[in-house]
This record gives sequence, C-alpha cells and structure tokens, in this order.
Amino acid sequence: MYIIGGTASESIARDLSKRLKAPMVKTISKRFPDDELYVRVLDDVSNEHVAIIQTTYPDKNIIELFLLQNAVKEAGAKEITVIIPYFGYARQDTKFKDGEPISAKAIADLIGLNADRVINVDLHKEYILDFFSVPAESCSAIPELAIFLKGKNVDLVLAPDKGALNRAKTASEIIGCDFDYMEKTRIDGTTIEIKPKNLDAQNKNVAIIDDIISTGGTMAKSIKELKKYGANKVFIACTHGLFAGDAIKKLVSAGADEIIATDTIKSDFSKVKIAPALYRLLSPKPE
Ligand code: R5P
Repeated sequence: MYIIGGTASESIARDLSKRLKAPMVKTISKRFPDDELYVRVLDDVSNEHVAIIQTTYPDKNIIELFLLQNAVKEAGAKEITVIIPYFGYARQDTKFKDGEPISAKAIADLIGLNADRVINVDLHKEYILDFFSVPAESCSAIPELAIFLKGKNVDLVLAPDKGALNRAKTASEIIGCDFDYMEKTRIDGTTIEIKPKNLDAQNKNVAIIDDIISTGGTMAKSIKELKKYGANKVFIACTHGLFAGDAIKKLVSAGADEIIATDTIKSDFSKVKIAPALYRLLSPKPE
C-alpha cells in the first residue's frame, strides 16, 4: 500500500505510513493566482493500492480530496482507499425541513466516485456509512481517548446524551470505572437543554466523552450540571475538536479542568493520535 496525506491530515498520514511500513507518495499542492487548487502526484502509483488520508473540513479540504482521488485514478491506481479522519457535514444527515439537502449524502456520493473503500472515524451517526456507494467502515478513537484518560484518576465517564452512551461505556471499560449519561434535548442548532439527572458525582473526577465539540454548548452545560452535583475534576474529551467561535472560553469558564481532543482536526488540544486506531484497522491480520 502507498499513502497520500492531504494537507489537512499530513501528520496522520506520516504516522500511519511508518506504522504500516507503507511508503508516502510525494505530491504537490499549491494555489493558482485566482486561488484555485493545483495538486499533482509525483510518484508512479499505477497498479498500486493507494490510501488517501484527508479530513473533509473545512470546505477547501473536500476539494483537495476530490482532486487527489482523481489524480490517483488518472495515474492508474489499482485500488483507492479513502481515509477520512473527520467527515464534515455529518450533522446534516437527513432533511430536517423540506427543501434541505442531505449534505452528508451529497459529499459521500462524490467521494464514492473515485474510491474502492472508505474509512471514517467516529461518525456522528453510524448509518452515514450507508450513504457511500462503496464499502465504508468505521474506526473509533474512543479507546485512544480512554488510554489517555487512564492516568487521571477518573471515577466516572459520562455521555452528554443517551445516544453517546456506548462511547462512554467503552471508555469506562478501558479506564476501569463507572459510566452514565446526561439528559440532553436539542432545541435548535445553537440551543440545547441539559436536564438534571440523579447522578452520583459528588467528589468524583468525571470525564465527559463526545464525538464532536463544536460551539462547546453541550459540554459547557454538562460541566455546569456536574459542578452542581459536587463533581471534583471534570475532563472533557472528544474525537473531533472543532472548537467553533468562543468554544474554548465557554468550556474553561464553565469549569473544565482539561480539554482533550484527537488530531482528526488539528488544534492545541489534539493530545491523542488517531493513527494507532487506524493502524489496528488496516494492519494485516494474522491468518
Ligand atoms: C450531537 O449529537 C453531538 O454528539 C455533539 O454533542 C454536538 O455536535 C456538540 O455540539 P456543540 O459543541 O455545538 O454543543
């Protein structure tokens, strides 16, 4: 296998290339004077299996992925695997109102045009895998986040809503502690309600785990509730740290003791690498 790293995911690609002992393909990526993107694959990939790694956020990285896929296809690759550390547009996964697109499907359809297999990381909803016209599978960063949290004396792992309970359960099993969930109701894109629930958080170190932190609203409300219940330290961890607007400020002023994200989207809080999880999925299994 050969590895190509798009500009959004170069460090993940290099890490994976070392772990898999799969060579990196040299590429050029630059902008024309009018800001259109130019990419070129410099190594010969004809008849090879090529894995392209690229987070599809923000929008410019989606275009780069499409161009890299096309370049590899045009160069005669035998097989193309697209690895998407963070799949943008996943939250518009249905028509919430008449006249809306199913954005996640629109992007998945285009990615499927020049791919034989797609790997996603902690998708907002697992059924998005079915939107791809080629075999698509999921890889989870939760074990990596749990390993990071293991040394922090966590007593309880919490999901900010019931839908994320399985993630909290998986993490708690690795950490060796209890798990529970908060009761969240989404009013609209920016307003949520976290209802109190009879949690035993008194004097406990609590880790709240979610797939995405965007505006930080969900986590900030959860932290405030937990503090009301007398929690000691509150760690907040997510796979995809978007940290839109003043999210970090919100989280810190709500009382977060530590903010932890993976490197699916690069930020100052990318303390956990996703490459080991991808390696486990891609490495040849013993017969
Ligand atoms: C929602 O279902 C997701 O799992 C996250 O809880 C949500 O996207 C976080 O968004 P925000 O940080 O804007 O509250």
